[in-house]
Amino acid sequence: MPNLIIVKKKIKDYRSSIVVSGDKSISIRWVLFASLANGISKAKNILRSEDVLAAINSIKKLGIKVILKKNICKIYGKGLEGYSYKKNITLNAQNSGTLGRLLPGFLINCTHPIKLIGDRSLSRRDFKRISVPLNKFGANIKLKNNKNLPLIIQGSSNLHPIKFHEKKGSAQCKSAVIFAGLRTDGTTTVKAKKSRNHTEIMCKHLKLPIRIKKNKTYDEIKVQKAKKINLINYNIPSDISSAAFFIVLTALMKNSKLIIKNVNINQSRIGVITILKKMGVKIVLQNKKIYKGEKNADIKVESPKQIKPINCPTRLNSGAIDEFLIIFLVAAKANGTSYFKNLSELNQKESPRLKWGSRILNMMGINTITTDDSIKIFGNPSLKINKKIIIKNYLKDHRIFMTSMIAALSLGGEWYIHDKDSINSSFPNFLNIIKSLKNES
Ligand code: S3P
Repeated sequence: MPNLIIVKKKIKDYRSSIVVSGDKSISIRWVLFASLANGISKAKNILRSEDVLAAINSIKKLGIKVILKKNICKIYGKGLEGYSYKKNITLNAQNSGTLGRLLPGFLINCTHPIKLIGDRSLSRRDFKRISVPLNKFGANIKLKNNKNLPLIIQGSSNLHPIKFHEKKGSAQCKSAVIFAGLRTDGTTTVKAKKSRNHTEIMCKHLKLPIRIKKNKTYDEIKVQKAKKINLINYNIPSDISSAAFFIVLTALMKNSKLIIKNVNINQSRIGVITILKKMGVKIVLQNKKIYKGEKNADIKVESPKQIKPINCPTRLNSGAIDEFLIIFLVAAKANGTSYFKNLSELNQKESPRLKWGSRILNMMGINTITTDDSIKIFGNPSLKINKKIIIKNYLKDHRIFMTSMIAALSLGGEWYIHDKDSINSSFPNFLNIIKSLKNES
């Protein structure tokens, strides 16, 4: 059963330097913008994962030529009106919430109905959050049970700008509306609770008509119809959400040191670093640079002597939204009780992650009190696992597989972790990087 990974031994201490793969959010956005650009755009270090390949396959179905060789991708954009909207097109977003939610924003002017499908996990997720605002532009989006995929979008040539209040802190909803606004005459206004802002940064870099007023808890974004998108060559930085697994591995070890090179440290993504620093993990950002409006740096992390518990401020939630499963592992080893709240969005991810987070900790022998939107974790600094733990039937959520691997390698026990292929969604190279960790100095 090659898709089952058995871990019975902890990993040895290491002092290492690694490079993790390209950022998923930026890779998908680059593919979508480049598909509507005038000319040939080229990206280096694009993430070659199933989510990004699903984005590439979608634009190919819309008539856009793509050449992908190793991690270099060339997209032959034909301009804003360059998609060929043939009859009976079905696009498959597979496991990707980002692709599934962003694409309909770009398809808002389609001249024939387009069907959007996804895998089992994506098909249970909420799509009403994008159909409601996009329909206000004048599109006609229908969903199964008024909520789920398959989605059918019939676009319109008579779009009206909207005012949208994004209250969930969802970058996916915000971006779908920005994309639709770029296709619509007049001014679309989004008042958005803080969330990752790669779309806005890419729009600014491309000199698209977008204005942003930043407030403390929300941004006000005004978008106008784009006249054209200039081609966009991009060297994609590494993904902090992938780096985070190795930051946490090092935090849970006794005597290890790690440098992770050229990671995107956009302020809206580094919640994991802020939270872990508050918990006593030594993390330093080195060689900071700004590239096309995005901040990148090398991340240096050292194993701490002791891990402190945290009452996690909710303002850090959005910047760490994909990292809570592994942050919970760190809390499991803290010398006290940690508390994380206002996290109902976590149960809206590839699997209900708040539930799974507490389930994994309970299997490890850690007590938790979990509600629909919060978790209290009773940490144990001398935690050692001596039993058999089986992780399966988790809707193939890539982050559950990788979190379980990190727990197994750092905390011991005998782990049977199913559905290894789930890592192909975001981080196909994950296991190879684990193998490469060694004592370099
Ligand atoms: C993403 C936004 C987040 C995040 C997801 C990627 C993006 O989702 O969890 O992994 O690239 O816009 P929400 O927008 O639903 O919070």
